Amino acid sequence: MSSDRYPYTDEGVFVVYEGPRRPEDEMRDRATAFYDLMAQRRSIRTFSAQPVPLDLIETAVRTAGTAPSGAHQQPWTFVAVGDSATKRRIRLAAEKEERTNYLDGRMPDEWKNEIARLGTSWQKPYLERAPWIVVLFEQRYGVGSDGARIKHYYVKESVGIAAGIFIAALHNMGLAILTHTPSPMAFLTSLLKRPPNERPFILFPVGYPEPGSVVPELQRKPLDEILVRCQG
Ligand SMILES: Cc1cc2nc3c(=O)[nH]c(=O)nc-3n(C[C@H](O)[C@H](O)[C@H](O)COP(=O)(O)O)c2cc1C
Repeated sequence: MSSDRYPYTDEGVFVVYEGPRRPEDEMRDRATAFYDLMAQRRSIRTFSAQPVPLDLIETAVRTAGTAPSGAHQQPWTFVAVGDSATKRRIRLAAEKEERTNYLDGRMPDEWKNEIARLGTSWQKPYLERAPWIVVLFEQRYGVGSDGARIKHYYVKESVGIAAGIFIAALHNMGLAILTHTPSPMAFLTSLLKRPPNERPFILFPVGYPEPGSVVPELQRKPLDEILVRCQG
C-alpha cells in the first residue's frame, strides 16, 4: 500500500482516536487553570512525616506511564520505597556522595556558586523523613525473553517526559516533590537490586510539605524569553 494518507504502510493495527475535542473558550479556561496550578509547583526540601497512601503513588506512576516514548518502548521503571530501613540506606549512601561533592572539592566552584541560592548542602534528611522515595530508572536497553538485548531509542528524552508527567500528577493531587539527583547515583542500582540494564535517572522524595516550609525565591523566565514565534 502506498498513499498520502496515514497509515502509510500495511503493517500495524489501528484504532480510531477518541481524544477530547472542546470549544475554544473551554480550552482557554482549562489551559489557564492548568497553568495556574503548575505555576504553584515548587521543589520542596522539608517534608512532613505524615503518611501518603500507596494508591496515590500508584496513580501518579500509572499517569507517568502514559508518556510518549521512542518507538513506544516505555523505557522506565519506578521503584517506590516506603520502608524506613531502605530510606535510611539511601540517605546514608546519598550523603556519602554529596559530602564528597560539597566538602571534598568534587563539585566545581562554578556549580557551587550556581546552586548557592538554593540553600542546599550535603545533608539530605528528607530522604528519611518523606514517606516515599520514588526512584525512576531508565532502561538503557531492553532484555528479550531469550535474554537478548533489545536496543532502546531516545531513552533520556522518553524518561524525561515521563518524569515531568509524574511530577505534574503528584502536584495535581496536592503532594510535594523534590527532583533530586545525588551525584553519582549508581549506588541506587545495587541498593534497590535493579538489573544491569537499568540506570538511576532521578530520585523523587514525595510527601506533604512540613508546615512552615520555605523555598528559595526564584523568578521564572517570561514567555517572550522562552518562546520564539514563527508565523506567516
Ligand atoms: C534534573 C534536575 C535535577 C535536580 N537535582 C536537584 C538536587 O539534586 N538537589 C536539589 O535540592 N534540587 C535539585 N533539583 C531541583 C532544582 O534545584 C529546582 O527545580 C530549581 O531550583 C527550580 O525550583 P522549583 O523546582 O521550585 O521551580 C533538580 C532539578 C532538576 C530538573
